[in-house]
Amino acid sequence: METILVKMEKENPDAEGIRKAGEIIRAGGLVAFPTETVYGLGGDALNPDSSRKIYAAKGRPSDNPLIVHICRWDDIYKIAHPVPEEAEKLAKAYWPGPLTMILKKTDLVPEETTGGLDTVAIRFPQDPIARTFIEAAGGFVAAPSANLSGKPSPTLAQYVAEDMNGRIEMIIDGGEVGIGLESTIVDLTGEEPMILRPGFITKEMLEEVLKRVEVDRTILDANCRLRPKAPGMRYKHYAPKGDLTIIEGEPEAVTEAICQRSKAAESAGEKVGIIATDETARQYRTFSGAESVKSVGRRVDEAAVGRSLYRILREFDDENVTVIFSESFSQSGFGQAIMNRLLKAAGHHVERV
Ligand code: TXA
Ligand code: MG
Repeated sequence: METILVKMEKENPDAEGIRKAGEIIRAGGLVAFPTETVYGLGGDALNPDSSRKIYAAKGRPSDNPLIVHICRWDDIYKIAHPVPEEAEKLAKAYWPGPLTMILKKTDLVPEETTGGLDTVAIRFPQDPIARTFIEAAGGFVAAPSANLSGKPSPTLAQYVAEDMNGRIEMIIDGGEVGIGLESTIVDLTGEEPMILRPGFITKEMLEEVLKRVEVDRTILDANCRLRPKAPGMRYKHYAPKGDLTIIEGEPEAVTEAICQRSKAAESAGEKVGIIATDETARQYRTFSGAESVKSVGRRVDEAAVGRSLYRILREFDDENVTVIFSESFSQSGFGQAIMNRLLKAAGHHVERV
């Protein structure tokens, strides 16, 4: 299959390109598109064959449910029942935006889309290209992140193309995404609302709207033996080819430890990559001997860190880096999502210095 690549500006989606993309989805095909979090791999959420194709294109197990993306407020009532008051409040506060809610599904949603579950994940994204595309596609677009299973979610169309060329009908290139980490997932089908995946909408932000919000224990505790509630959080994810270790401790001790480990690894013939910040990158470039030093931005700028992380992991893969050292980041606010993804990429390999 030949994959068409269509470029458009975020603030001014190209009508002809969007029309074509919508037609492909309604005919049962697949289109990758930008959202404010990461690029999605879209298919018709109400067509079981489209969902099967999504799993095949990603090489993803079909028991891992897909998020249904909508573009009109009232469409939540078509695919979910009941819609509790909490869901309405959250929608009002954070939709359109980087928040996914899990609710009981209606019969309109095929089990192929929900991985056999009787619940459905729903998100109303903010990105203007995403919204016009969903509208053109009929209003219900199932979309996982547009990466091959096991690779970091794509933050640029170029990465979608690397993973999906020849596997899908079309890629819409809307430039770099704004957030860079996947949406927050909150499950509203249990006794208390529960965060299954941390994201840009933080626990504190959810608590401004809901009285109580729990966090799935498996997110907080690497040694927890419980099964994560979001099936996708069970799989090894976001893993770079290189062996990644997070070094934690006082800033100066961390820089020194990373320099030492990096020198030792380089002399042992490894190709070392370092995930640094603007504050420390120059020191590593001078003293670590590492082949590749990349900064995620200023340490205090969580938005920049979130946006750069997956790109840097992909770049290290392209450079065939074999060993990676990363500084650690604060777990507060959006930092919880950043550390959740970084810890997964590291297989929870953390050293304290
Ligand atoms: O930001 C995002 O959410 C991106 C963009 C494209 O919207 N999408 C995304 O989809 O990250 P995906 O498929 O890569 O991750 C969806 C996660 C998986 O961990 C999946 O197991 C979980 O959501 N999930 C989906 N439906 C669920 C359900 N009914 N119950 C529990 N978890 C569910
Ligand atoms: Mg994904």
